[in-house]
Amino acid sequence: MRFYARGVQQTRARSANQTKFLLEESQLPRRWYNIRSDMPTAPQPVLHPGTGQPVGPDDLAPLFPMELIGQEVSEDAEIPIPEEVLEIYSLWRPTPLFRARRLEEAIGTRSRIFYKYEGVSPPGSHKPNTAVAQAFYNKKEGRTRLATETGAGQWGSALSFACKLIGLECKVYMVRVSYEQKPARRSMIKAWGAEVVPSPSEETQSGRAILADHPDSPGSLGIAISEAVEDAAGRDDTAYALGSVLNHVLLHQTVIGQEALAQMELAGSFPDVVVGCVGGGSNFAGLAFPFLREKIAGRDIDVLACEPAACPTLTRGLFAYDFGDTSMLTPLVAMHTLGHDFVPAPIHAGGLRYHGVAPLISQLVLDGLIRAEAYLQNDVFASAVLFAGSEGILPAPEAAHAIHGTLQAAKAADEAGQERTILMNLSGHGHFDMAAYDNYFAGKLEDVALDEGEMERALRSIEGLPTPA
Ligand SMILES: Cc1ncc(COP(=O)(O)O)c(C=O)c1O
Repeated sequence: MRFYARGVQQTRARSANQTKFLLEESQLPRRWYNIRSDMPTAPQPVLHPGTGQPVGPDDLAPLFPMELIGQEVSEDAEIPIPEEVLEIYSLWRPTPLFRARRLEEAIGTRSRIFYKYEGVSPPGSHKPNTAVAQAFYNKKEGRTRLATETGAGQWGSALSFACKLIGLECKVYMVRVSYEQKPARRSMIKAWGAEVVPSPSEETQSGRAILADHPDSPGSLGIAISEAVEDAAGRDDTAYALGSVLNHVLLHQTVIGQEALAQMELAGSFPDVVVGCVGGGSNFAGLAFPFLREKIAGRDIDVLACEPAACPTLTRGLFAYDFGDTSMLTPLVAMHTLGHDFVPAPIHAGGLRYHGVAPLISQLVLDGLIRAEAYLQNDVFASAVLFAGSEGILPAPEAAHAIHGTLQAAKAADEAGQERTILMNLSGHGHFDMAAYDNYFAGKLEDVALDEGEMERALRSIEGLPTPA
């Protein structure tokens, strides 16, 4: 008893210097937060490419279950999370929030740095937050198989994990450059029972058309999406699942930010700066949207989106209607885009190689609620190695963009003589990305900033499409 009592006392004495802020399983959020209900400007409607008119539920029904179509257009502030999804979430959620004390010391900043760590999920990233929900609704509405794309392999492994637990078949079109760079991700996808092929593949018309023109194509998310959409549209038993970009995907990720709000409260703090990396935008939205709710209500928060200079969608892209995929099979969405036939350089942050970005994030950028920065990959890897050397975790190259953004924000605050509280999303670990680290250590990583001429060329692909109102 005496020993126990002393232990409790020691715990209390230490709390001012606490490193991890943990929630009980019973504190798992029971609702997803829908930012559409609070946005100052409503997002533009999704258009049918044939008619130029807004799409209706029937247009989307061949690809998605009705419950997800409903979530895509819902304006309810909160949507209940089904019990079955919560039960699977509880395998790894709530995820920890860390105070990065050792990183703060390493860089000698006066600011406080916190990170929410999503790499504790079984596949190693934030992606299963939506994969489990999508698999659940598809199964409920009678689909038996899902088709999808994957860039870095995180989404493909998350969906194969979710399908295995929920009881669906799964087919993954994996961007060729990642398929080759990350054989272990392929094995992980197979371990959860899914089929995985490199994209562009010979298995779809879209894939064959691209291979005919570019036999050595490294692939891109845009191409892999075309293949998965074609696969799903051609079979009644199959639906399509997207790992980012769409409203319902961002919605499912908001468990991250809701937990972080409660954990920052445990830490007796609130962020001045919220940082995340952006591919399609789902992990960024997951952390940032619940904080943007506070910002829209009047709190002063700097919300920073970090992207690669090789694929600078938010910092240099146009806000325009464009296709979500390369072969022009999807509806038209209004978003920041580099053009649907843009194939980004094969940088190691495979999950950030996408020509567009979530329409919700695009609109919030236009409204001045989010700002964006773009970074070169050698700078990003230097920050990743610094982070690993102080906090221990080896980040995924995508997540390393958020780390780099955080370090930039801390440096700017120090230079301005300010002390700020910075919260970042560490969206995944990099244990399957060691070849990228090897290349970085060998000095073989190329710094690619998108060339102006190539950008102009790629943007020609959207000429003639409708323009946002
Ligand atoms: C670890 C990790 N972070 C971030 C991303 C980028 O996707 P999103 O912007 O949807 O979070 C990916 C995509 O594959 C990823 O694997």
